[in-house]
Amino acid sequence: MSGWWVVLVASVWVPATLSGSGSCPPVCTCKWKGGKQTVECTDRALIALPEGIDSETQVLDVSGNDLQILPRENFVRTGLLNLQRLYLRNCRLGQIDDRALRGLTNLVELDLSSNLLTSVPSATFQDVPFLRDLTLANNPIQKIESRAFKTVPGLVKLDLSHCALRSLSPGAFEGVELLESLKLNGNELREIRPQTVEALSRLHGVELHDNPWYCDCRLRAAKLWLARNNIPYPIAPTCSGGPERIARRSFAELDPDDFACRPEIRLDSRHVETLAGDNATITCRVESVPEASVNWYWNGRLLLNNSAFSSFQRVFIRETGGFEKRSTLIVTNAQESDSGDFYCVAENRAGNAEANYTLHVLYRMAGVASLGGGQIAGLSAALVVLVLFILLVALALLLRLRRAPFSESKTPARVEPAANGVQKPSSPSASDPDLINDTREEEPPPGRPPQWEHHDRAPIVPEGYPPDYGLPIPGPPHHQPSAKTLRVWQRGVPVLPPGVSALKRVLTGSSPDEGYQEGCGTDV
Ligand SMILES: *[C@@H]1O[C@H](CO)[C@@H](O)[C@H](O)[C@H]1NC(C)=O
Ligand SMILES: *[C@@H]1O[C@H](CO)[C@@H](O)[C@H](O)[C@H]1NC(C)=O
Ligand SMILES: *[C@@H]1O[C@H](CO)[C@@H](O)[C@H](O)[C@H]1NC(C)=O
Repeated sequence: MSGWWVVLVASVWVPATLSGSGSCPPVCTCKWKGGKQTVECTDRALIALPEGIDSETQVLDVSGNDLQILPRENFVRTGLLNLQRLYLRNCRLGQIDDRALRGLTNLVELDLSSNLLTSVPSATFQDVPFLRDLTLANNPIQKIESRAFKTVPGLVKLDLSHCALRSLSPGAFEGVELLESLKLNGNELREIRPQTVEALSRLHGVELHDNPWYCDCRLRAAKLWLARNNIPYPIAPTCSGGPERIARRSFAELDPDDFACRPEIRLDSRHVETLAGDNATITCRVESVPEASVNWYWNGRLLLNNSAFSSFQRVFIRETGGFEKRSTLIVTNAQESDSGDFYCVAENRAGNAEANYTLHVLYRMAGVASLGGGQIAGLSAALVVLVLFILLVALALLLRLRRAPFSESKTPARVEPAANGVQKPSSPSASDPDLINDTREEEPPPGRPPQWEHHDRAPIVPEGYPPDYGLPIPGPPHHQPSAKTLRVWQRGVPVLPPGVSALKRVLTGSSPDEGYQEGCGTDV
């Protein structure tokens, strides 16, 4: 009965459409709609596309059937390569072949909502590169993988509402930069990461309501992004998780800084040591989104930047960083009485965190006990150097004193020329009878006055030579006296006893031969 009716309707209707195009299957309605040749075959319990649809069809709606599977090259086989819009709502579709849409190069709209898809059929979309409008609502998809829509870069509208989505990969919307409308409402989303939304610069509308948004710092970027880009949302999303103070409040009434996480203080060491008189420096490291404000307290007193700590001390506070902040407290000219607990309190809209630091101010002169190991080592080294220096100076003085007397007797021997064949006395030795050694004569043999020795030795020099000519003295070669001998003799006899002259030379200084330079000159 009903079959007959369908055939009847079809036979009445078909001639009208056949005029410009092909046939219309009996289970379908074929008509012009909005300027498009449209075929509707909805709610017919079809398990496959009906045969005989006109190949010129631009819009095909087969929603409400029992297709379950969309096989390979489905539209190539049915000759429907002119499709621009394809509606496959509520078809119990759980599987779509990677090449199911092959040949649909004109397709701009695809509705796959209310099916049984568990993932975005990304590979299928490679055959519909000009798709602009995609609906995947009401599928149990749960997760959008990274670059899930990269094969349809021209996508402008995307509906992912009611998909039981729990998470969006950070790169979920990479490659669909032209997207203008996005529906994510009715899912299980708790957060959107900054990277997820950064790709969507063209977005004009987004639906985020009906998600259990967890409104802490992790959602802050999304809130900032919505506010900054002034993206409208028809229904304001509300916070269902997160800090109690903002639970069940809508995004619209919250400030980005309300999307906050409680600050955390990273404590390396609670103990700070400094020497009295130095600046005491305590650093508090705070991690917090949004940025926390940091205050310092001592003895219940709030310490203000650049303020007096005591009549002769000041407090400075330096800050660097934002979400990872370092706040440094400086108390100048630390005193032992400043020792105690300093509190760092970090606060943002999500709450606060505090840490106490114990300052120990050590007496600089309180003894070695208050010095560090390095300082003790340094002081010891300085002490050793000082002792060595004193020892060296003492040694030098001692040597100088001991060497002073006979260094004088050696000096003339050094200026003695060796060139004239005169044997130079190597040392003032008693084996050389010609040598009169001044120094030895300071200690004359007992019972004999020193000057007498010269008289004994006087005959060495022949008489008749004027004492001060200084000419070479002829005589037996073995007897030829050195200049020194001559001089000492000449000098010694008339004026001073040799001991006295030696003494005098030591006292008068460095040039003992000054008085008889001429004589020396002729010697050479
Ligand atoms: C202590 O800190 C103040 C202020 O920062 C600075 O002017 C001063 O030079 C510092 N003194 C010492 C000993 O470091
Ligand atoms: C504290 O004051 C100094 C100048 O006195 C300033 O340079 C510094 O930025 C201030 N610190 C804070 C945390 O405001
Ligand atoms: C300082 O902090 C430590 C550890 O957080 C805590 O055990 C101690 O009681 C605190 N001291 C004061 C005076 O609050």
